[in-house]
Amino acid sequence: MQNNTFSTLFVGQNLIKLTSVDSTNSFLKRMVSNSEPLPEGTVIMAENQYEGRGQVNNIWHAEPGKNLTFSIFLQPSFLHPSDQFILNIAISIGIHRALKPLAGAGLSVKWPNDIYYQDRKIGGVLIENIIAGSGIKASIAGIGINVNQEVFHEDLRDRAGSLYQILHKNVDLIWLLTEICSQIEAVYLKVRSGNYSSLRQEYLNMLYRFNIKTAYRQNGEHFEGTIKDVSSTGLLIMETSEGIKSYNFKEIEFSQP
Ligand code: BTN
Repeated sequence: MQNNTFSTLFVGQNLIKLTSVDSTNSFLKRMVSNSEPLPEGTVIMAENQYEGRGQVNNIWHAEPGKNLTFSIFLQPSFLHPSDQFILNIAISIGIHRALKPLAGAGLSVKWPNDIYYQDRKIGGVLIENIIAGSGIKASIAGIGINVNQEVFHEDLRDRAGSLYQILHKNVDLIWLLTEICSQIEAVYLKVRSGNYSSLRQEYLNMLYRFNIKTAYRQNGEHFEGTIKDVSSTGLLIMETSEGIKSYNFKEIEFSQP
């Protein structure tokens, strides 16, 4: 294990810093399948990812050396696969708790786990679970936070943001990494203790456009809906003019932004 400044019990105690890698999630997945047993809480961080991956096969763009791109190895064998969405909740809450003192009231989590500041995305999460039988053998929680990046490619400029753009100053990447890891560990331990019903409410309270009537789009059709809940399996529960409906990830989009 490498020495570091983390004051956690296990998340980040084994920190592997890479200069450049395809994707920290892919690297960690290869480690999990190829090598000796890996300590739970191992964190792989990279200054640069040349094939950073986002949700639904999107590419994750991050200017090298200016942002946080890292993956955490967890072993939530205590969870049934049908409960795996609680990991999305736990990671979102951990990030939100860590960023809130910096970003303040404009911070939210856009279902299922985009990190938003006002109407811009400042971070994303890609959780990849390895299921074995009726348990989750391993979970790779990949996290990208736009930290010190000042400008974004013109295609992203209206939708992406960073902590630098909020604070007008740089944030130390390792300090922020330790804050996020320690908050994620605290929430994860709560999940592990089985006592996590309060986490669902905390997640709902931080959701972007929760309880606010908003325009959405499904298959090109626009409609208005109000987010009322998120099911235990992660479905978005909406009140619409046709009654309560539930949606899977990528089934609907916010009309804007
Ligand atoms: C998304 O919002 O689409 C998810 C983005 C996740 C990006 C992070 S960066 C670290 C880790 N490695 C990857 O290749 N992706 C995740």
